[in-house]
Amino acid sequence: MISLWSALGVTILVGTVQAALDIVPGATWTATNTGEHIQAHGAGLIEENGIYYMIGEEKTDGSAFQAVNCYSSTNLIEWSLEGRLLSRTEEAGDLGPNRVIERPKVIKNDQTGQYVMWLHVDSSDYRDARVGVATSDSLCGEYEYRESFRPLGFQSRDIGLFKDDDGSAYLLSEDREYGTRVIKLTDDYLNVSEVTFGWEYFAESPALVKHQDRYFIFGSHLTGWDPNDNVYSHAESLEGPWSEWTEFAPVGSLTYRSQVNYVQPLGTDKAIYMGDRWEPNNLGASTYIWLPLKFDGTDVTLDWYDRWTVDVEAGDWYDSVDVTAQEGEDGDLSNGGIVISCSRCTGSEAAGYLGGDEDGTVTFNVDVESDGRVTLVFKYLNGDYNSRFAAVSVNGQEQDCAFLSTAHYSTGTGNSVVHVDLSGGVNIIVVSGSTGWGPDIDQLLVPNI
Ligand code: DGJ
Repeated sequence: MISLWSALGVTILVGTVQAALDIVPGATWTATNTGEHIQAHGAGLIEENGIYYMIGEEKTDGSAFQAVNCYSSTNLIEWSLEGRLLSRTEEAGDLGPNRVIERPKVIKNDQTGQYVMWLHVDSSDYRDARVGVATSDSLCGEYEYRESFRPLGFQSRDIGLFKDDDGSAYLLSEDREYGTRVIKLTDDYLNVSEVTFGWEYFAESPALVKHQDRYFIFGSHLTGWDPNDNVYSHAESLEGPWSEWTEFAPVGSLTYRSQVNYVQPLGTDKAIYMGDRWEPNNLGASTYIWLPLKFDGTDVTLDWYDRWTVDVEAGDWYDSVDVTAQEGEDGDLSNGGIVISCSRCTGSEAAGYLGGDEDGTVTFNVDVESDGRVTLVFKYLNGDYNSRFAAVSVNGQEQDCAFLSTAHYSTGTGNSVVHVDLSGGVNIIVVSGSTGWGPDIDQLLVPNI
């Protein structure tokens, strides 16, 4: 069972097991079955039979195309890698070496039964400016790449895809010579048919959602990999008239340093903003900024939450329960693990020299009142360019956890999350070596269940 939270943060207990699984924007999100940070940048989401599939770009080796990956989740919080839907080919071509493949989006054609993927397909200098189409009989299986072209002859860089309630589908396309268009797809979704609406206004990374019979389109300004204050516009019909573009996150926050990649409807009257926080010099270390998107008539706002939770069955989101912080330096350090000074850390100290040849280890005793599956947050530093890793064991149950580089941080520490089962009473949480050196642990945050 389950505990329910009201939006006011009041906890209503039902039974004896609490769930406190959270979305932590900007954290390292380790996939449950790879031990690595999720590689699904510029992603889209699609749900089928209660399972959500996140389909996005592998960016481990930088900006050139590597693969389109598919991850699955039943709760939008814990994700497993299912596989690669498209992979780089050895020979030259759209999917060959040094190509750009960005913003994959998949919709199902209910007439043909096919899953149709649209992509931004480009040369490394972004001059090709084309769209690509791939198809599959299986949502999260291998896709057959079909072709690339300029839609209706127009340049097309960032794209989005939107399927309306009546089955008609639309390409959202940014054309550097014109602005951004909504272009209707043919009935089989394999081509474009006509322009539905065009703005002589540049909205990159366009994402469209229908909310209570009104269309809302979101997009960013053109600042490369750097974030800006993203904007939205709304209309009763896709053909317009559309409202003026306006910001929805606090101006100056640069959309909490993110760029919209998708908007996921939640229940009947809610939605989730999904954005990429790009790290231009280390794209594989880019993180995901997911936050509740709040609608009030035609007003849309995005507030920041360090952590929040979503219940996909209830179609609602909630504040997280409070957490208790344990200092890394207060844990039991053994093997090579020692207390190190850390000017950015709370208490100016951290647990350091974890992992390595001596398998430095830090152990925390965590006391909670009830059984429950929770999201633990490690506040950490990793000065390397590459991820570091640790084995996290909770009462003997071990899993790998990744810790993205924090070398580009000018202040503060990074967050990495791991989802674990706690038992009412004292739990033994051991952080030890996995591969090479682990991170320096500033704090462990544990939900108060
Ligand atoms: C902004 C786009 O939104 C990204 O997908 C990517 O193409 C970068 N520009 C490249 O600078």
